[in-house]
Amino acid sequence: MKPRDRLRIAMQKSGRLTEPAQELLARCGLKFRQSRDKLFCFGEGEPVDLLLVRDDDIPGLIAEGVCDLGIVGRNVLREFQLSNPELGEGLDALRSLGFGHCRLSIAVPQEDAYDGPAQLAGQRIATSYPGLLGEWLRTHGVEAKVVMLAGSVEIAPRLGTADAICDLVSSGATLVANQLREAAVVIESEAVLAGRRELPADERGEIAELLLRRLDGVIQVRD
Ligand code: PRP
Ligand code: ZN
Ligand code: MG
Repeated sequence: MKPRDRLRIAMQKSGRLTEPAQELLARCGLKFRQSRDKLFCFGEGEPVDLLLVRDDDIPGLIAEGVCDLGIVGRNVLREFQLSNPELGEGLDALRSLGFGHCRLSIAVPQEDAYDGPAQLAGQRIATSYPGLLGEWLRTHGVEAKVVMLAGSVEIAPRLGTADAICDLVSSGATLVANQLREAAVVIESEAVLAGRRELPADERGEIAELLLRRLDGVIQVRD
């Protein structure tokens, strides 16, 4: 890895967290020049640059040292840590950011009754979060088949490829549209500032600390 003296923050390129994350950084006094391809934004003023990527890639980019910090859902961070224990060990949610609230839930077809985890025994559950679902199933002593899907999880029961799903619920509209209902909450989530537990021991660490102080000010004002 080439040495870097500028702090690099990863955030979602396009999605629910993009706008509030940009707004938050602006309120911390950071300004960026959008590059033409919009993957890399050069920071003006402070030595802080932005990398716009898929949210699922953010924890890995931090773990590998490509980025120093990232704005990402707690669910994505936890999933990375569960599925990559070695790489994920040094990562942490440094701050909760107060937006992007949602929950990872198990949902079943509307017409199915749900009377507890035991009912899921032997069922096929589709999810993009095999680590978090696996942990929940173990905690509840349930053996089920986890069907990994990268997207469109909500359609699996109708296609007959799964009996239930485990996916993010925010407004609940996706569940309703697919005739599913929430059965159990696996974890509550919101956007967090993710980073390595130990900040870099150079200028980047100092900039990160300055940014954390400003962030605390912004979060406090908002509360
Ligand atoms: C999530 C989730 C559902 C939807 C739920 O996807 O996978 O599809 O949001 O939200 P609702 O309860 O408000 O309908 P999202 O579009 O956030 O991201 P993804 O592309 O990573 O699935
Ligand atoms: Zn995603
Ligand atoms: Mg989705």
